[in-house]
Parts: sequence; C-alpha cells; structure tokens
Amino acid sequence: MKRSDINKTILQAIEFCREMRFLLPAFAYWTLDEWPDKIGMAEEIVDNQMGWDITDFGTGDFDRTGLLIFVLRNGNFTDQRYKKPYCEKILIQNEDQILPTHFHWRKMEDIINRGGGNLMVSLNNAVSDTEPDHKSPVAVTMDGERRSFGAGEPVRIRPGQSITLEPRQFHKFWAEPGTGRVLLGEVSTVADERVDNNFPEYDLRLPDVEEDERPVHLLFHDYQMVRDRASWPPAWRR
Ligand SMILES: [Fe+2]
Repeated sequence: MKRSDINKTILQAIEFCREMRFLLPAFAYWTLDEWPDKIGMAEEIVDNQMGWDITDFGTGDFDRTGLLIFVLRNGNFTDQRYKKPYCEKILIQNEDQILPTHFHWRKMEDIINRGGGNLMVSLNNAVSDTEPDHKSPVAVTMDGERRSFGAGEPVRIRPGQSITLEPRQFHKFWAEPGTGRVLLGEVSTVADERVDNNFPEYDLRLPDVEEDERPVHLLFHDYQMVRDRASWPPAWRR
C-alpha cells in the first residue's frame, strides 16, 4: 500500500470516530515526530501490536478488499511480562468493502456494531484449514441468544447488536449496501496478527508499504522504524 493512502485512511478513520463520538486514546494521535520520545515508555504498545493496522491484503484495492483496525489494548501470546488475557479493538467497515473469509486459530471474539450502518456477516464451519463447509449450519450466540444460520447465509448485525465467533469459525464481513459505514467494536481474547489469522484466499496480512509520502501516524508494524531513526529518508526529518 502507498503511505499516502495509509495517511489518508487513518485521518478519515479519526474523523469517523469523532462523528460517532468514539474517543480514541492519546497514542492514536502520536505523530512520527513524537514517537521517538514516547517509545521508551510505551513498550506495551509496541510489543502487543497496539495502534493502527490497515491492510488491503496485497490487492492494491483497499476500497474493495480491506481492513482498518485500531487496537486499544491487548495481551501477548508468548511474552509473560504482559498479563492481559483480553484485547479490545475498533474496526471500520466501509460500504462496498469486504473483509475476506478467515478464521482465527486461537482467538475468540465478540464483534459489536457500535453504530453507523448495518454489518453483514457470513459464517461457515471449517471442513479443513483452507476449506469452508458450504452445507452444515453454523451455531453462534448473539448478545447471549443461541442462534443457528445456514452456511454462508448473510446475518444482519444492527447498531448495538453483537455476535460471538469461536476459533476456527470462518467469517466474512461487509456493510449492508445503502446503510453507510460501520464502526465495529471487538472484544476478544488476546490477538496476534502475525500468527493467528487464517485467510485461505490471501497470503499477505501485513502490507508492504511504498513510502511515497512522510508518515503521519504509524501502523503497528512501523514501530521498528522509530528505533531505526538513523535510516530515515531525509524527507522524514524535521
Ligand atoms: Fe476475525
């Protein structure tokens, strides 16, 4: 993805959160220039993949196939210094944009419609690691209520409602056309974007970034560049 598109997408997300009256923590706004002063005290953010996470899955078409996340809090699969067994995120699902079919090997998650349009979800059980089951019904709970849906059947999640997804349950998201962009919350067990995603159709979860512009806010996988300040291109220095 181009850095200019990442910058634009983060600024739009901040604006949408403002519209939806969802308040983000301070580190959502830290700039490239502020990060070097912050990083010494912010290992929890760096080590646990907190902050901005945007991907187009390598498609070059974020508007159609993409994902925007901000991780507010998270624990760690392996680092015992971090005790949180939970994670909280927000996600923004744009109209005409699909979050492709995937499951998580370990993470159990509640996906909550925090406002905006309707979220549509389709669900499949897994026949194998790469193959959704197109026949068997899928059992879930929605706000504590037991429900069953046909394989791949679109399930509507209206503002205020949520759905609980278990590990190895395939899921795909989109916003219901005509209802607008959706602000999603996610409350889950610990998340690890490097090892706990299984997207059968896409290999690339964390995009390569084409640096065509100075970064404004950083993605979680950019934090290494803060420690590597000496290697910054001259255009990034102030
Ligand atoms: Fe997921």
